[in-house]
Amino acid sequence: MAERILVAYATRYGSTAEVAEAIGDELRKVGAEVDVRPVDEIRDLSPYRAAVIGSPIYMGKWLPEPQVFIEKNQQRLRTIPVAYFSVGLTVTDRSPEILRKAEASMDAVRMLVNPVEVGIFPGKLESSGLSFTDRTIVKMIRAKTGDFRDWEIVRSWAQAVHRKLTAA
Ligand SMILES: Cc1cc2nc3c(=O)[nH]c(=O)nc-3n(C[C@H](O)[C@H](O)[C@H](O)COP(=O)(O)O)c2cc1C
Repeated sequence: MAERILVAYATRYGSTAEVAEAIGDELRKVGAEVDVRPVDEIRDLSPYRAAVIGSPIYMGKWLPEPQVFIEKNQQRLRTIPVAYFSVGLTVTDRSPEILRKAEASMDAVRMLVNPVEVGIFPGKLESSGLSFTDRTIVKMIRAKTGDFRDWEIVRSWAQAVHRKLTAA
């Protein structure tokens, strides 16, 4: 029987959900049974033998929902292989220093459950549709807008992560 893997995510504007779906598709291609779900819809972890959990980065941090999810389920998550991914805009620049800073967004969840792998992917930011607060911040820091997601990076990460999730 194929192993069942959970891909759980949080998102504010949908771009991380699409990254999670792409990871799920890639895991299915290599034979896994996969559920891709928002973290706040997950009630039972018992069907899963591995989990991939991701969040967008806002002001240097993960959204609270996946952190709460990991905290609440840390006992179970410590018994299965887990991988984390972050989606953010700073990492369109793939320099080691920028990637290290973006990796710090996962420090809190790494303390709870140690992952077998982490991924950091460029995201998407459109000024239309943002909340008033987010629009104000984006204007203030003059953030660049556009879709910078790199599906090749996401897909090859998913393939590599599958090997680690199933080997552990
Ligand atoms: C108010 C605001 C703050 C952000 N802060 C960061 C940040 O600190 N680091 C980063 O890499 N990206 C940052 N971003 C970019 C988001 O992480 C990026 O747009 C991501 O793709 C959004 O994911 P979502 O559509 O799933 O919510 C920020 C975006 C907004 C609107």
